[in-house]
Amino acid sequence: MRNKIRRIGVLTSGGDAPGMNAAIRAVTRTAISNGIRVMGILKGYRGLIDGEIIEYDARAVSNIMNRGGTVLYSDRCDEFKTDAGMRKARNTCEEYEIDGIVAIGGDGTFRGAADLSRLGIPTVGVPGTIDNDITASDYSIGFDTAKNTVVEMVDRLRDTSESHARCSVVEVMGRHAGHIALQTGIAVGAIGIAINEVCFDADECIERIKESRKNRKRNFIIIVAEGMGDNYAENLSNQINAATSRDVDSRFARLAHVQRGGSPTLQDRVAATIMGNRAVGLLIEGRKNLVVCSRGDKIIELDIEYALNLDKRYKNKLPDEQFAELSESDQKSMTEIIERKKAEIKKLYEIAKIVSI
Ligand code: F6P
Repeated sequence: MRNKIRRIGVLTSGGDAPGMNAAIRAVTRTAISNGIRVMGILKGYRGLIDGEIIEYDARAVSNIMNRGGTVLYSDRCDEFKTDAGMRKARNTCEEYEIDGIVAIGGDGTFRGAADLSRLGIPTVGVPGTIDNDITASDYSIGFDTAKNTVVEMVDRLRDTSESHARCSVVEVMGRHAGHIALQTGIAVGAIGIAINEVCFDADECIERIKESRKNRKRNFIIIVAEGMGDNYAENLSNQINAATSRDVDSRFARLAHVQRGGSPTLQDRVAATIMGNRAVGLLIEGRKNLVVCSRGDKIIELDIEYALNLDKRYKNKLPDEQFAELSESDQKSMTEIIERKKAEIKKLYEIAKIVSI
């Protein structure tokens, strides 16, 4: 039987993440293996508006697996959110005879995919963001590489902190989520981890630094999630200097976009390959408007609107009245997922605290 889907479009949107190229490769080659042509949409949704599209064959995605960034480029496209932008995007899909789109990115990317779905273009989202803040999925492509980059950088800071008896207060990315901060904080043996999800007591942390300094500890690391707010890490560093009269000389460092680059780790390459492959498989099965998600050791798919509502609920952006309009089973499953995620973070934070004395 002939595939209903004859051409698939693939795009990456929002902040890039290491492993996106592996996902593009998997989408391209899975489609081609199934007799489907692949249109690479450049610069995310911007490419759909401007008609910047190139056809990919299997060789077009050779030698990209190991590269950071995204060969399709990325953009945060405001015009796409307008009626005029959406019309242009739909016209481009018609012009290029695109029967389905795989959109790789974070929650903003999925919102765009949901909009396209409403215009009648089948879409499947693949989670790609270093922040790992897509509530529907336990894992998003790029998270592992970003964490490993942070660990490598902070290990370097530790070397020099030890020589000079210093504290490094390091701000890491994650947007409003503390996943990168929490896990890297554990991995570098931080004396303090400041994230939004759990109350951080700066004074108590400074007291522990003073105590440990008396006991001849020379280097201190504090990891701060960017979601703690502008200048939080810098202010904390100044506070440490004031409280220790520079007995512990504290320096602030923001790792910033270095965390988004670099060759993806094995975990990101494999996750991206499996998720990209599944996304195309779903479109071939005639399924649409879904997000590919990892749940424990399984890959599942969830309705894109469900995933977006879940995400909003987790991030306190879905008011009670709107939540109450959802089906009872959706409310129940969302509540379970949110509680599990919050409990996992708390548990990990407690462990981090116990071992940071
Ligand atoms: O979502 C990925 C991310 O790197 C966040 O961690 C960060 O808050 C944001 O993107 C930075 O965005 P931009 O690259 O547009 O400065």
